Amino acid sequence: MRKEFVASFFVVILLQGFFFIKWPVGLYSLIFFVPFYLLGFRDLRQTRHAIKSNFPVFGHLRYLFESIRPEINQYFVESNTDGRPFSREQRSVVYQRAKAVLDTVPFGTQHNLYEQGYEFVTHSLYPKHVNSADLRVLIGSDLCKMPYSLSIFNISAMSFGSLSPNAIAALNGGARLGNFAHNTGEGGISPYHLAPGGDLIWQIGTGYFGCRTHEGSFDPELFKKNSSRPQVKMIEIKLSQGAKPGHGGILSGKKVTPEIAAIRHVPLGKDVISPPAHSAFQDARGLLRFISELRELSGGKPIGIKLCLGHRQEFEDLVNCMKEMKQYPDYIVVDGAEGGTGAAPLEFTNYIGTPGLDALVTVVDILEKSGLRQKIKIISTGKITTAFDIIKLLCIGADATYAARSMMLALGCIQALRCNNNKCPAGVATQDPSLYKGLDVDSKARRIKNFHQETLSAVAHVIGAMGLEGPKELGRQYLFKRVEESKIKNYAELYR
Ligand SMILES: Cc1cc2nc3c(=O)[nH]c(=O)nc-3n(C[C@H](O)[C@H](O)[C@H](O)COP(=O)(O)O)c2cc1C
Repeated sequence: MRKEFVASFFVVILLQGFFFIKWPVGLYSLIFFVPFYLLGFRDLRQTRHAIKSNFPVFGHLRYLFESIRPEINQYFVESNTDGRPFSREQRSVVYQRAKAVLDTVPFGTQHNLYEQGYEFVTHSLYPKHVNSADLRVLIGSDLCKMPYSLSIFNISAMSFGSLSPNAIAALNGGARLGNFAHNTGEGGISPYHLAPGGDLIWQIGTGYFGCRTHEGSFDPELFKKNSSRPQVKMIEIKLSQGAKPGHGGILSGKKVTPEIAAIRHVPLGKDVISPPAHSAFQDARGLLRFISELRELSGGKPIGIKLCLGHRQEFEDLVNCMKEMKQYPDYIVVDGAEGGTGAAPLEFTNYIGTPGLDALVTVVDILEKSGLRQKIKIISTGKITTAFDIIKLLCIGADATYAARSMMLALGCIQALRCNNNKCPAGVATQDPSLYKGLDVDSKARRIKNFHQETLSAVAHVIGAMGLEGPKELGRQYLFKRVEESKIKNYAELYR
């Protein structure tokens, strides 16, 4: 729309010249066009709103409708606890915290506290003070030489390719400003991940992008080179992701630009296939040997695995192998079937994989039972938009959390649901320069930092209100759910 807007300006100037002859038509039209173009050019110059920059003048309609939203809002009933897109309430809290504007709510709760499924934590008569700067956890078992102090809230895996260069640079800039970690996603480490200087978690999927031979298998030398970058603090082997577990992917040759080819180490212009399974290992023992190889090659950095829980027995077998071989990952990321993606087949998104809470409970309990829980940290995802979402995961047993889609919201995503057709109007999930140019890297990096900082500060306040010293003291006994109209149970009772 930017180009079209500027082009239309010149057309109007020409027509204006013509109509001026037909005085006074030209004069009347000036009254309309002058404010129209003044507003449009102001939109093009501003950096706060990608939508206004990408859609000069017309972008204001969105903000106009947003401003009358409270009146419209009451006619829609929205859930904020399930796998559907984010509700207005969830989006508002992210936008407000990202913009660092007042985020209190007026009048009282807007939830029905007597509805089945309502969840809450209990507070203490003796609140404590918790410092949000202390909300970190050390990742690295006794097998790891370079443990990393991870914030309990970080940016989840989203590749350059699924997100625009400006979005990636803004996420990483936010991570640097706020001292937390940014997961690269499986598309390799791009210059946009590196330039801002934020801490990286390098994710490796079945395509081994950034550490692959030309034939597509794992290349130890390339891995060694990239993993030794000081910015790379941890390495993550992606086994599966909640939105499409067990599904591979294909990047069409048309999209393999010289830049993508260089970042992913793939031939220019040819289709790139990410198979469903890893070629570097075929079973639990192979996976544990691979983890050990990566730890060695990286000089001892923490190595994790990411999975969406599938067959429970397979996970139990993996944990048994860990005990037997005395080899284990430094951390496990548990992603729920409700997880997000840029694009996925409908069946995989809606009907495959264990939902996040059930998966987290299972993974925590199996690790506890095996005696390995102290060695392996658990990171969890789960549509986090508020401090309560984080505290809930920590109560159930996670040590730290990742967020993907709320970070997109903080970047300016309006949930247009166009991530899969390259037409994201906010410039977040697109490779179209005319759309991502409107996303201003510096101001959005500050928003990412704000969202992280404000949310963590709320986490610290809530933990303090619960009368606890820090996140390690959280447990299932503090988290309650209304299971029937007159019955409430805590999570320790719900998941025995
Ligand atoms: C646009 C997009 C791209 C993603 N790319 C990856 C990826 O490359 N690797 C991965 O493991 N997960 C990927 N994910 C999944 C997220 O990392 C995360 O696990 C999931 O969305 C759940 O977190 P959320 O509820 O905070 O969104 C992607 C998600 C989105 C929305």
